[in-house]
This record gives sequence, C-alpha cells and structure tokens, in this order.
Amino acid sequence: MTFLPLYGINVSENPTYEGDDMNKIKLIYEGKAKKVYETDDPTLVIFEYKDSLTAFNAQKKDTMQGKGRLTNLISATFLKLLQDKGIPTHFVKLLDDNHQLVKRLKIIPLEVVVRNTSTGSLCKRLGVEEGLDLVPPLVEFYLKNDELGDPLVTEDHIRAFCFASKPQVEKMKELSLKVNDMLSKYLYERGIKLVDFKLEFGTDEEGNIYVADEISPDTCRFWDLSSKERLDKDRFRKDLGNVLEAYEEIWRRISQPKTTTQKRYEARLFIYLKEGVLDTQGKTVLSSLHSLNYPEVQDVRVGKYLKITLNSPSHQEAEFKVKKMCEDLLVNDLIEEYAFELEEI
Ligand SMILES: Nc1ncnc2c1ncn2[C@@H]1O[C@H](COP(=O)(O)OP(=O)(O)OP(=O)(O)O)[C@@H](O)[C@H]1O
Ligand SMILES: [Mg+2]
Repeated sequence: MTFLPLYGINVSENPTYEGDDMNKIKLIYEGKAKKVYETDDPTLVIFEYKDSLTAFNAQKKDTMQGKGRLTNLISATFLKLLQDKGIPTHFVKLLDDNHQLVKRLKIIPLEVVVRNTSTGSLCKRLGVEEGLDLVPPLVEFYLKNDELGDPLVTEDHIRAFCFASKPQVEKMKELSLKVNDMLSKYLYERGIKLVDFKLEFGTDEEGNIYVADEISPDTCRFWDLSSKERLDKDRFRKDLGNVLEAYEEIWRRISQPKTTTQKRYEARLFIYLKEGVLDTQGKTVLSSLHSLNYPEVQDVRVGKYLKITLNSPSHQEAEFKVKKMCEDLLVNDLIEEYAFELEEI
C-alpha cells in the first residue's frame, strides 16, 4: 500500500473548523492522549489532542508530530457522523487542527469494547485463533483503572460494585452495537474493516448518556479490506513502522468524497436448512421419488433460490449488502444457512 502525504486533504465533507470563540480557562486533566480544559461555559470542555502515543498502559511511549491533528480530525469526523445519524455524542464542534469542543460529562468508569474479528488481548486471553469473524459481535466491559491495567469485568461485577446501573449498561450496549453497525458500513465503503473499537460513555446533569472521549486509530483497529494491512495503533504496539502514515491513510479515505459510480450486480442466493434440522418437504419428495422407483436416492433437502439484482459502487459493497439482507430478513439463522454467488452484469 502506498501512503499519501498529509497535504492537499479535502476537508469539505467533514466537520469544518468553527473558530476558537471558546477560551481555554484552566487545564483540568492531562491524560495520555489529550489535555482537557475548562471553558467559559461550565457545560463544555475543550479537548486538545496531543502528539503522544502510548501502548501497554503507557509502558511504551513515543511522540509523533502531526498525530494529534489526525486523531482530532478523525475523531471529530466519526463523532459528527454518528451524531447526524441520531447517536448522542459529546461532540460540539471542531475548533482547529488540534482542538475540539465537547460537552462536559461525568465519565462512567467503564470502557466498552466491540469486536467483529478476533485479535489482540481476546486471542491471548482465550487462546483462540486470530482473524475469526465474530457474529454477532462481542461486547466486553473493562474497568477504567490504569493501576489495575483496565481489567475485564462482567455485568455482575458492574452491578455488585455499582460501576454503572443496569439501565446504563443496557444503554451502553445498545449504543455500542449501533455505533458498530454505522461505522462498519461507513468504513467498509472506504475499503476499511472495522475489526474492533473501544468506547467511553458519560452522563450530563440530567443523567442522559452520551458517547464520549474519542474514536480514532488510537482506539479502534482498522484493517485494509483486501491486504489486511494494519492501519491503526497496532503498528506502534508491534513496531510495524509507518504509524503516522497509517493514520494519514485513514484520514485520506474518510475525508475524500466517496466515488458513487454505480454498477449492476446479480446475486444468486441459496438458502437451505441446517444439517440436523428436520426437512419435512425433503422427506416428502424423498418418499415420492422412492415410490416412483428411484431407490438410489438417499436424501433430499429442499431449499430456496433467490435471484437478486442490485446497484452498487463495488463488488465488496454489493457483497456486504447481500450479507446484510440475509441477516436482516432473508435467512433465519437459527435453522437456515446460506451461500451466494455474486456477479457484475
Ligand atoms: N465529555 C467528556 N467530559 C469529561 N471528560 C471526558 C469526556 N470525554 C472523555 N473524557 C475523559 O477525558 C480524558 C481524556 O484524556 P485521555 O484520553 O488522554 O486520557 P487517558 O490517558 O486515556 O486516561 P484515562 O482514560 O484512563 O483517564 C479521559 O480521562 C476521558 O475519560
Ligand atoms: Mg484515553
């Protein structure tokens, strides 16, 4: 993959700078990736994205000039996208290259991780293979506590120690899965697989929950769809090199308008009952064949065949859409399986 330089980026489709009419009054928190400032408005804070990179609970550190700009711009783009689609987020506006204005929230001390593909700590912890598709996606909760190394917690732990209420846990799960759906689709269209990501949530004075913190290559795993090349902080964790270039590549793909030339595809979809599920239609056909003197027939399974014609800008997206149609409507995954052929026509 060739990484593009940072200049010449088109930001027209993305959150635009809205000036810094807000003043930083006082630094209230400096974390590993951001500084948080109080503003004239007690309900708002300014985030300053820093150029520092940390991994393994800050045991590995580095600084990369321009990284704060990229995480700020990428995070603002994702948060705005989600907000426009009805997800409550803390994002208010982008102020400049390194600053954004967000709602001041009380952070729930949990990190919610959504996983679509097995990798990282999941594989280490459970000894499972890397790269397995996780359908439905896994949702995990981790306690936000650096001293303990952000341990995995169950919903029972959360309840027992009041880290969050039951309705908050339900809401966080529901919002995380919606975010996963929206971002997976958005990224897929840009040739990126959303492997997993971490979200933080916070509440306002009225107790409303918002997606908080950041969504960027620091907090997500992004793989190039075809080459599986890592385009996120794993490049830093694993010393793969070209860290900043990978962040630039993500920014390039989300900041450039997507091409919309449509092509026509035909999907030939076969739906059949899973092995072990009683197929009464198949049994009827089998006994009719036997009575017509076809004793050699050993088994018959009856399935459905659908021919679907659809418009799509790419083969990858058409494939994604057909899979989604199967999951949303066409296939009852408790008893049925499916396979399809897809061809441009
Ligand atoms: N809307 C918000 N209002 C107030 N604080 C927030 C908001 N969104 C995120 N935060 C908090 O602001 C801090 C951002 O800094 P940063 O991401 O650098 O922290 P960190 O080093 O990851 O540490 P930690 O998350 O463990 O506190 C985090 O503590 C995060 O939980
Ligand atoms: Mg953080």
